[in-house]
Amino acid sequence: QQGERVTIVEVAPRDGLQNEARLVDTGDKIRLVDLLSDCGYERIEVTSFVSPRWVPQMADAPAVMAGIARRQGTRYSALTPNMRGFEAALASGADEAAIFASASESFSQKNINCSIAESIERFRPVAEASRHHRIPLRGYVSCVVECPYEGAIGPEAAARVARLLSDLGCYEISLGDTIGRGTPEAVDAMLEAALGEVAATKLAGHFHDTSGRALENIAVSLERGLRVFDASAGGLGGCPYAPGAAGNVDTVAVNAFLQKRGFSTGLDPEKLERAAAFARSLRRAA
Ligand code: HMG
Ligand code: MG
Repeated sequence: QQGERVTIVEVAPRDGLQNEARLVDTGDKIRLVDLLSDCGYERIEVTSFVSPRWVPQMADAPAVMAGIARRQGTRYSALTPNMRGFEAALASGADEAAIFASASESFSQKNINCSIAESIERFRPVAEASRHHRIPLRGYVSCVVECPYEGAIGPEAAARVARLLSDLGCYEISLGDTIGRGTPEAVDAMLEAALGEVAATKLAGHFHDTSGRALENIAVSLERGLRVFDASAGGLGGCPYAPGAAGNVDTVAVNAFLQKRGFSTGLDPEKLERAAAFARSLRRAA
């Protein structure tokens, strides 16, 4: 029963709900996080401290952070694109922050309104502040294999940005197939390049499931030594600046997939099913 550990980072409250057309009630968001906390996660990404003009769905970030019940042993994180976001996340009691860059110049412009190089400079003081406050800092690289605006992205582009985030001090870099169009072959080539720059123990896989190949991409990543994967209860998700992006790979499916392969995740499948059903009900109500 006690197989090798694989960590699932739950992202439904953030990556899932950021994309809902209808504004989801703050109370429902809190309830979702609480249901997820009950499943036994080490890490839950709760919300984003971003511009409410850019992502109106995350405008209630402080209220969500204030409302959740904190389970011992779970780290509650938030996206922080700049110092303003980081300071707000800190004030709200976030245990962890995440900065987010892109392997694609066009996506960087559309998503955070600056070039890749400018984003790294913008993240530098955030990294400095996270060290000062002893807040673990995670980094995302979006569009590691495919970009909605540029098409295929070369493996070295993803590897280069992963290295930049690692050099900034991110303890882990999550590699995002933002629009879920990556094939296992492309993901494998991207990982080979990324592993030339950053150790497998510092990399995570973040797969959207638009083409239904996310589990295959996780399998390829496991072969390459990755042991952390982002997933979303109920398969909620997308990105408002990535047209065509479907939801993140469903946590229930990832958990079952990993357990079948002999890995342990520490998650309670029944409670997870309950949280996923509630997550889906939020989408249905949209
Ligand atoms: P900007 O317009 O270049 O920045 O946006 P600005 O500094 O000029 O500020 C613009 C406005 O936003 C101002 O307000 C600021 O006060 C405000 P206004 O004067 O217009 O009323 N502002 C803020 N408000 C709250 N919190 C803040 C903040 N910063 C500025 N932290 C900015 C730059 C980064 C702010 C903007 O582009 C933005 O918020 N982008 C967020 C986009 C986003 O959240 N995308 C989704 C998450 S990424 C993702 O989903 C991918 C991922 O899942 C991995 C994957 O799948 O690949 C992570
Ligand atoms: Mg995503």
